[in-house]
Amino acid sequence: MNFLVINGPNLNLLGTREPDIYGNKSYADLVNMIRRAAEDQNVQVETVQTNHEGEIIDFIQQTANKYDGIIINPAAYTHTSIAIYDALKSVGLPAVEVHLSDINNREAFRRHSYISPACIATIAGKGFAGYQEAVKLLAEHLDLGEK
Ligand code: DQA
Repeated sequence: MNFLVINGPNLNLLGTREPDIYGNKSYADLVNMIRRAAEDQNVQVETVQTNHEGEIIDFIQQTANKYDGIIINPAAYTHTSIAIYDALKSVGLPAVEVHLSDINNREAFRRHSYISPACIATIAGKGFAGYQEAVKLLAEHLDLGEK
């Protein structure tokens, strides 16, 4: 099994960006943690980060025939991007949406996600552990499908 983890804008600044909300650990720390979580689940994982909406769409389109599932934190594009929703629907792979912070208990504009309806689950407010949970959930979801 092979998963693509896509992180959106400003997540490259983890560790220095609003640490009271996003914590003190860096994006490199996040990537290492995702790799360990994937090893634990016996899955392959690739991680990408971009600050550009179109590039997120390119990454999603390129998953076809190459990956079995997608883990995505579209960051602020969560709340604005019908194009990312359309891309996820177009490739049709199981996707899990992750947010480090609890988007339901912050500013009102963060409460709506255009992405959730294209995903099998949304995990929010669990920090880095949310990605660990996403890897496990996606692996289990695909395992069940194969049985
Ligand atoms: C975020 C939440 C979004 O509202 C915000 O724009 C982000 C990060 C999160 O991981 O908590 O950039 O997706």
